[in-house]
Amino acid sequence: MNESRSLQGDTTAAQFDVVISNCEGGTFQKGEHNAQILSPKEDKKMAKNQTLVSDFKQKKLEIEAQKNWDLFYKRNSTNFFKDRHWTTREFEELKGCREFKDQKLTILEAGCGVGNCLFPLLEEDLHIFAYACDFSPRAVEYVKQNPLYDAQRCKAFQCDLTKDDLLENIPSDSVDAVMLIFVLSAVHPKKMHLVLRNIYKVLKPGKCVLFRDYGIHDHAMLRFKSTSKLGENFYVRQDGTRSYFFTNDFLAELFTSVGYETVVNEYVLRETVNKKEGLSVPRVFLQSKFRKPGRET
Ligand SMILES: C[S@@+](CC[C@H](N)C(=O)[O-])C[C@H]1O[C@@H](n2cnc3c(N)ncnc32)[C@H](O)[C@@H]1O
Repeated sequence: MNESRSLQGDTTAAQFDVVISNCEGGTFQKGEHNAQILSPKEDKKMAKNQTLVSDFKQKKLEIEAQKNWDLFYKRNSTNFFKDRHWTTREFEELKGCREFKDQKLTILEAGCGVGNCLFPLLEEDLHIFAYACDFSPRAVEYVKQNPLYDAQRCKAFQCDLTKDDLLENIPSDSVDAVMLIFVLSAVHPKKMHLVLRNIYKVLKPGKCVLFRDYGIHDHAMLRFKSTSKLGENFYVRQDGTRSYFFTNDFLAELFTSVGYETVVNEYVLRETVNKKEGLSVPRVFLQSKFRKPGRET
């Protein structure tokens, strides 16, 4: 486990054991974004933290984004992120996509990493065919080497979602649901619309992108040092990977500017607990659903 990442990064990761119930009304209150309100001390820290990483370093990080994620998987292999068994539970939409029981669904997991979302889904639902892509060649290789990988039910391929056309691997208007789970936050905000446009082409009209990612004022955001700020709500970890923290307004504007309609777009407030170490941290995620307009023909 990479220490710098455990301090500054995503505790969706391995070191935290349990995600307990929604904490609205507990340690959290509704704020101007309906997200977490900062304590005066946190507020002061965020206001003070205005110096940005130099342009030179920012350009380098952009050029090396793929390399840095690939090195991340070289260091951590398949051990960093926990399997995401909540996907079917919380995204009932996946099941809701069906017009009849056991209807075969085609999904795309964009930015699949080593398959922590993908494999639980394939195991839980035998009537899914999944495309899965990531720009880290190592991550894609780990997916293909997974004993649960079955070419009859899954096609994994390397793709930089900001520049490689998904149509090279997936027919247009053919996917019933796209999962975008903790991926857009890793993309430079100026390039996020390119990812959404790319996905739009393969999604069937009337079908949705299922989104989950970091929300503004998430614990991981508050932990970043002043030397890690790249821009508004955008930070770099010590390993060179980057993370954006979304407001629901920013996200809605991003999706609608590309042509999607907002179906759901809300903050999910959680407390992540590490029982062993007696640690409990407040988390803020955005869980959203955006629809490509039109009806399937
Ligand atoms: C935090 S991980 C999440 C992985 C996976 N979705 C999960 O939930 O376990 C972010 C992933 O996004 C991938 N990624 C970042 N930018 C990308 C891009 N431009 N194109 C494709 N994948 C990208 C990274 O390689 C990494 O695997």
